[in-house]
Formats: sequence, structure tokens, C-alpha cells
Amino acid sequence: MGHMTRDIPIPWRGHDRAGRNLELRAGVARDAPRYLELLHVLVSETRNMLQTAADPLPDASSQRSTIDGLARRDNAVCVVASRGGQPGKSVLLGCATLIGGRSRATLHAAELAMGVRREAWGGGIGGALLDACLTWARKGSILTRVSLQVYADNPAAIALYLSRGFELEGRHRNYARHGEERIDLIGMGISLLPGAAQ
Ligand SMILES: CC(C)(COP(=O)(O)OP(=O)(O)OC[C@H]1O[C@@H](n2cnc3c(N)ncnc32)[C@H](O)[C@@H]1OP(=O)(O)O)[C@@H](O)C(=O)NCCC(=O)NCCS
Repeated sequence: MGHMTRDIPIPWRGHDRAGRNLELRAGVARDAPRYLELLHVLVSETRNMLQTAADPLPDASSQRSTIDGLARRDNAVCVVASRGGQPGKSVLLGCATLIGGRSRATLHAAELAMGVRREAWGGGIGGALLDACLTWARKGSILTRVSLQVYADNPAAIALYLSRGFELEGRHRNYARHGEERIDLIGMGISLLPGAAQ
């Protein structure tokens, strides 16, 4: 599976579905304030992320180190989407991180997290971010598996992941709590190996 992934090397410049400029590139330390602004928007616009608007975000300097740290690792990547322009100046429309494990047993296994600003939904940006992460992972020789967790009531994200070859792997019942509401969390995963084994 996974045949639907487009090859999107980073950096990449092209257009979204509406014909507007779209640039995908690795996040850099200078993006930290814009990145935090994006995270604030993502956790405020929906309750589809595990982090919520009530949780504190890091300050700019620790966000800079986080982005820097990811850039230095060979089993992790942080991809940001914008209309182009200078890092630090350009508003970020979406982001995706792929973070591989730190132990010998889990170096090959990365967790994906992503989000796109609501105003930009439906433009192909989420798909492009995911394709860029999978392209990056396939080009390297370390990651052979990507997994993620998604709320069971988030059909847009689940459809996106299924379309790129992710499979449903399990369900944590009533995992997340939002007020009185309890939401199941679905585990999904994809093997990056040519065969079936992960
Ligand atoms: C899920 C999300 C990342 C999709 O981003 P997007 O830029 O709107 O996605 P795209 O326009 O690239 O669409 C890609 C695919 O997603 C699926 N999709 C997107 N919106 C959908 C919707 N409203 N209903 C069903 N499927 C949808 C489709 O499979 C679509 O395929 P298509 O390109 O053939 O239409 C975005 O809605 C988002 O950030 N939501 C809030 C945060 C979130 O849910 N993050 C994921 C947490 S696990």
C-alpha cells in the first residue's frame, strides 16, 4: 500500500489546489515565533489535537531549540508550509513532524503529527505535507515505519491517512477527555519497506 504518495522532496515549491503559491521546506530556528502562532491556531480551531488550547505552549527559545534539535536528527524532520518568503517572516499555513524513536529498538519507528490552518483546508496542503514527510522518510535509510494517533471522530484526517496507505492498527477507547466528552483514539501505521513486514 502507500502507492498514492506523491514524491515531494523538501524544499518544494508549487501551487495549492486554488493555484496559490505553496512552499514546503524544513522548519528552521527562525520560524519559532511563527511556528508557535500556528500551533496556537491549530489547538484553538479544532479539538482534534492531543494538545488543547488550555495547555501552555513552549516559549520561543525552547521552540527554537526543538526545531533545531529536529533538524539535527537523522530520524526526524519538521516540515512547514507557507506561501513562500523568508523563514521567520512568512506566515505558516501548516506543519508536520515525523519523530523517530531514541532507543535502539525504536530508531526505525517514527510518530507523525500534523495540522493545517482552517482557512487553508481542502487546498491539498495537508496531503502535500504528509507526502513530503513520507518522501523524506523513504529517501533515508533509517525509518521503516510511521505511525500516528488520530481521534476516531476526525474523518477528514483518517481519510487523508488511508489515502496514503496507512492502515488502522488499533483503538484506545475513551482515551481523550474534553469536558464531558470521551473520544476514542485510533492508531494508524504504514510500513515503508517494500514487503509487508515492519
Ligand atoms: C486533517 C487536515 C490536516 C487535512 O488538511 P487539508 O489541507 O485540508 O487536506 P487536503 O486538502 O490535502 O486533503 C487531503 C485528503 O484529506 C481528506 N480530507 C480532507 N478534508 C476532508 C473532509 N472534510 N472530509 C473527508 N476527507 C477529507 C481527503 O482524503 C483528501 O483527499 P483529496 O485530496 O483526494 O480530496 C486538516 O483538516 C487539519 O489540520 N485539521 C485539524 C488538525 C487535525 O485534525 N490534525 C490531524 C490530527 S491526527
